Amino acid sequence: MFNFDFYNPTRVLFGADRIKDIAKHIPENARVLITYGGGSAKKYGTLDEVQAALGSRFSVEFGGIEVNPHFDTLMKAVAVVKENQIDFLLAVGGGSVVDGTKFIAAAACYDGDIWPLWSKRQPLQKALSIGCVMTLPATGSETNHVSVVTHTGLGQKTGYSDPLLFPKFALLDPTKTYTLPATQVANGVVDAFIHVIEQYLTYPVYGKVQDRFAEGIMLTLLEEGPKALSDPENYDVRSAITWSATLALNGLIAAGVPQDWSTHRIGHQLTALYGIDHAQTLVILLPSLLQVQRESKREKLLQYAERVWNIVEGDEESRIDGAIAKTREFFEVMGLKTRLSDYGQSKTAIDEILENLQRFDMLPMGERQDIDFDRAKTILTMSY
Ligand code: NZQ
Ligand code: ZN
Repeated sequence: MFNFDFYNPTRVLFGADRIKDIAKHIPENARVLITYGGGSAKKYGTLDEVQAALGSRFSVEFGGIEVNPHFDTLMKAVAVVKENQIDFLLAVGGGSVVDGTKFIAAAACYDGDIWPLWSKRQPLQKALSIGCVMTLPATGSETNHVSVVTHTGLGQKTGYSDPLLFPKFALLDPTKTYTLPATQVANGVVDAFIHVIEQYLTYPVYGKVQDRFAEGIMLTLLEEGPKALSDPENYDVRSAITWSATLALNGLIAAGVPQDWSTHRIGHQLTALYGIDHAQTLVILLPSLLQVQRESKREKLLQYAERVWNIVEGDEESRIDGAIAKTREFFEVMGLKTRLSDYGQSKTAIDEILENLQRFDMLPMGERQDIDFDRAKTILTMSY
């Protein structure tokens, strides 16, 4: 196992009817900015509950944070923060709202244009405190220090992380996920599943407990994901999915093991260029990436085949093929299409995506840094 630091200071408040409890974790004299997205938090009453929980604290709302949050929108929120001397940010929504709020927390404490620091992944000196009420189990943003923001002017979607961006608390109420449209349920389940894959399907380093946690999360998502589609108001199912998504990306399974975020990094280009939902970019790319990288991932692919899919018969090649085919099948059972051509793109997309990878200096990538331009091209061609 590699050396590691494990640090996760976010308090999780889990369960139904708990929004009132957030008040205990926000200073009495805080001046709060409540951030939300396109309106689901308002429509389904979550914003009213949050307002009630804040009691007499000063608060202002900032709505309209779009999916894959945009730099320009978030800078408008920064102006609201400054105008109202805000010192606490409360995000109510999915990963986009939470990520956007992390950006606001950083940019509000930074003099000048923060994008150069953000895109070069330099450390922060200061950030505002954040809390979140998460309404979409998917990204893990509620208990991690990552934020993904899109600069539309530059065509750049980029992930950033800094320990100052961990939320102080994450309120996870599984009943809040009942209103999600089926596509967002599917997106969330497969995003969490692929977060696990990218921290697990690399090469063995005797990370025995990390592997078992990872396999447990994947098996849970495989069992519960389809149930959330057929039985949306099943509290036990939603609870299992909510907690799985959080554990998939809170640092636990990443500790001491190699990681391969190539599917995510290439996927962000598909969102930046064509607006394809985050999770959908991943299901397009992952099966082909696993095929192309099957030699360097051989041992873990065989372990995945056996422990997650119970594939124990046949030679090694057929077990690996079987596991990759089952993975694709699962994404399709969740209702997601797994080819780039399914999303209305022509073949020229392949060159455009490669150009972005070069422009933003993202190659080579992978746990062994062996995905170069040619391999990325093969992955994209096979994903079409
Ligand atoms: O905007 P509103 O009206 O709230 O509607 C949203 C949005 O349309 C809706 N929604 C959320 N909760 C709902 C709901 N609708 C009904 N009922 C509810 N309870 O769902 C839609 C999608 O929301 P969004 O927040 O965009 O989805 P998600 O949570 O999947 O977040 C995606 C973003 O997170 C980034 C992605 O790149 C993308 O920008 N990621 C962040 C990560 C992190 N911070 O660690 C890691 C991930 O890999 C990912 O990259
Ligand atoms: Zn993701």
